[in-house]
Amino acid sequence: DMGGHDTYMHKEIHEQADAVDRVLRGRIDDRFSTVHLGGLNLDAREARRIRRVKILGCGTSYHAGMIGAQMIEELARIPADAEPASEFRYRNPVVDPDTLYIAVSQSGETYDVLAAVQELKRKGARVLGVVNVVGSAIAREADGGIYVHAGPEVCVVSTKCFTNTTVAFALLALHLGRTRDLSVRDGKRIIEGLRKLPEQITEILKQEETVKELAESYADARSMLFIGRVRGYPVAREASLKLKEVSYIHAEAYPASELKHGPLALIEPALPTVAIVPDDDLLEKNRAALEEIKAREGKILAVAHQHQEKADQTIIVPKNEDELDPILMGIPLQLLAYHTAKALGRDIDKPRNLAKSVTVE
Ligand code: F6R
Repeated sequence: DMGGHDTYMHKEIHEQADAVDRVLRGRIDDRFSTVHLGGLNLDAREARRIRRVKILGCGTSYHAGMIGAQMIEELARIPADAEPASEFRYRNPVVDPDTLYIAVSQSGETYDVLAAVQELKRKGARVLGVVNVVGSAIAREADGGIYVHAGPEVCVVSTKCFTNTTVAFALLALHLGRTRDLSVRDGKRIIEGLRKLPEQITEILKQEETVKELAESYADARSMLFIGRVRGYPVAREASLKLKEVSYIHAEAYPASELKHGPLALIEPALPTVAIVPDDDLLEKNRAALEEIKAREGKILAVAHQHQEKADQTIIVPKNEDELDPILMGIPLQLLAYHTAKALGRDIDKPRNLAKSVTVE
């Protein structure tokens, strides 16, 4: 039942405030400015012994993992990175006993992720799951983990589960941080930020009409460039994937910092750029990148916390804590992908050549 929406994608985009409410529910501990994650199976002593975090997933779940790695580094100060599970499996990785491995999956059935988990466990590693579907293969195989509680996701392309997964990682990062060296003050700050998310999501979704008009104006593009840096880069990656999956427009994501090392050669009026421009300590750097693009007559759509002069249009997103901003900044771009695909008459819930869960190699 689509409850008045024309597609599951549209319905699921609009369910995100409630979905985020669910992943937070019952987990916040105001007394100690931390969160409780019941199924983690990781005591404080073990949590303090972790030397590295390696996050594995595919597609959108990999992108959520990139955001998660950044949050874990920032809040828990543990070196962390994300890698496609499909690549990790085939490079005979060094499995290290002081590394915490985290498998991310909406379905919990993606074969490449499951096989990576099995290989890691066979080698004695500790593996947690960040999974949506309760009781799925990856959830059962993992030593513990976090359910993201996004609810059933029917559309082939992931939207609400992506958002909830990034929130689940924020909870994990806060938990690991407060077990290690994150201060009470910072713990409180992050908790306040988490509590604001549902309302801010609702605020973003109210801008749908504007985003729809923008989408219609970009629907004839042959290709689009998505840029961001550090916290904004995985957001650009995910937005680029979403656009290509549902609209079939070619899109490429690049770190804004790497533009001058190659992609600037592509900039011309026919190649629009979508730029993620948070109000953080990289704001001036991002503005300089917009200037470089403008100087070459590239069209720019910015997703930012304040109006960007160099951009042709700016979608304004409410500001949260710097570390949590990536959770929100991709949401208007889900709408952009949806409305672009709609303008082009695509089969939004079932894009060609794709399946909801990839249970084969
Ligand atoms: C993107 C998408 C795919 C999945 C990927 C992993 O919209 O749907 O990229 O994210 O196949 O699937 P899960 O998360 O089920 O392991």
